[in-house]
Amino acid sequence: MKPMKGLKRWCVILVACMFGIAAYGATPQQPSLIPLPKSLKMSEGEFTFGKKINAMVTPQAAEVFELFAKEFKTATGVIIKQTQKSNKAQLELHLSPSLASEAYRLKVTSSKIEIYAAEPAGFYYALQTLKQLLPRNVMAAVADPSISEWSIPCIEIEDEPRFGWRGFMLDEGRHFFGKEAVKRVIDVMASYKMNRFHWHLSEDQGWRIEIKKYPKLTEVGAWRSSKGLGYGKVKPDNERYGGFYTQEDIKEIVAYAKSRFIEIVPEIDIPGHSQAAVASYPEFLACDPQNPHEVWCWQGVSADVINVANPKAVQFAKDVIDELIELFPYGYIHLGGDECPVAKWKQNEDCKAQLAAIGSENFRDLQINFYRQLTDHIKQKPTEKQRKLIFWNEILYGNTSMLPNDITIMAWVGANRAAVEAAKRGLTTILSPQIPYYINRKQSPLPTEPMSQGHGTESVEAVYNYIPMQGVAEELRSKYMGVQANFWTEWVVEESVLQYLMLPRLAAVAEAGWTPQQSRNYDDFVRRLQAESKYYTLKGLNYGKHVMK
Ligand code: ACM
Repeated sequence: MKPMKGLKRWCVILVACMFGIAAYGATPQQPSLIPLPKSLKMSEGEFTFGKKINAMVTPQAAEVFELFAKEFKTATGVIIKQTQKSNKAQLELHLSPSLASEAYRLKVTSSKIEIYAAEPAGFYYALQTLKQLLPRNVMAAVADPSISEWSIPCIEIEDEPRFGWRGFMLDEGRHFFGKEAVKRVIDVMASYKMNRFHWHLSEDQGWRIEIKKYPKLTEVGAWRSSKGLGYGKVKPDNERYGGFYTQEDIKEIVAYAKSRFIEIVPEIDIPGHSQAAVASYPEFLACDPQNPHEVWCWQGVSADVINVANPKAVQFAKDVIDELIELFPYGYIHLGGDECPVAKWKQNEDCKAQLAAIGSENFRDLQINFYRQLTDHIKQKPTEKQRKLIFWNEILYGNTSMLPNDITIMAWVGANRAAVEAAKRGLTTILSPQIPYYINRKQSPLPTEPMSQGHGTESVEAVYNYIPMQGVAEELRSKYMGVQANFWTEWVVEESVLQYLMLPRLAAVAEAGWTPQQSRNYDDFVRRLQAESKYYTLKGLNYGKHVMK
């Protein structure tokens, strides 16, 4: 082919450019949705809100719509008025009973926005997606006066989560952050369609929830003599430190989370990680009540565990569960079970006698026998008070056949193997692999990283690229309930550090829980993530900026 010259050449370039622009215009820019929906189809055009629109809302969506309309007005100034007449409505929320409980369909044309869902959760998620189609001040519910017109691209979305459990755990035993900080965490979770807040409320270093029957748990157990936790050569600092949630606080947070479709799963970690409880009631919780016991001021795992062979300790655990059942109106309670040293049981005559009585030589079975008494206690309750128990995966080292088969194993150490083992035993399981889902670990090797565990290899990319259920046999897959990020606070004292380490990695875990594996792509995630800077900034949240361009 001969090279073109002069005017002819420029004409060809001009025409090519015009075609290029037209082609670009025909493929509108993909929106920054996190988590990415199951299916999404864009078309030309957009829906423009104007100053006011009318909405026709099915009664099943009424509550969800009300909160949405209020926040939408704050963010955009657009008034959404309810109407009963379809021909007057530009926004329609329809009941579609054939959809799954969290699923939704969202269809935007230049004249109308239609939403279909079977349950309030589906409507909620559709409206969260709608907000993410707009600038992030809308998700943040903060006005942005620099924007005078609000519009969204024409789009059709069919969406539902990959997993029913999309969780985040916060350890407030080591450090206590308080109600407002927890609400900020819940807001971020809701923006990513996460639905389980696992609240780690007791530790060796602090007991954080008021239990009416045992007031010393918070009079004594919520306070210690060091703000930071001793580690190696770093000694405790002697500052009086602590805090706890009253039952009124708990109710307030449960209601706050509920309106955002987040169930709260309380964790009381027993019989290990219990030194704060032991220090509160050593007379019946300690294996050696004759010795002094205090709330721990160090990192690590305390050997000062509950004496599971004392009937008063078993009664204590039953009483605590009874109060948890009243406060948390959901299906699950987590009883911990990780890292429980048995050294004190080996020295204790009652424990040795009980081990012989249950016909075992494995001291781990004392822990399982303790839990069995608690599951028996729960099973006697009426239906509405029934709760299923979740445990960390170390309980698999004991004879779990003593327990009912409706318990769930939360897999953290050797997580993939532990989850398979749980599933093979017929138990449900949740994947929360220490590497890379412990998002309290450093998220980069940068010198600006705060003091925490790890060397920065649990990066946003590493967290994103973890593949849940990889290679798991087909017949075990139904046992996998979902995924969860965990946040331990040995090193984390300030809320700003909690936020920094959590963000944006929480978004990566949320997407693993929601989006089909075959649609997940790290580069595309990073592209979509850029919009989150505005959301985090407007919400006053600290976050990892090194992945923002
Ligand atoms: C754990 O990380 N000890 C559950």
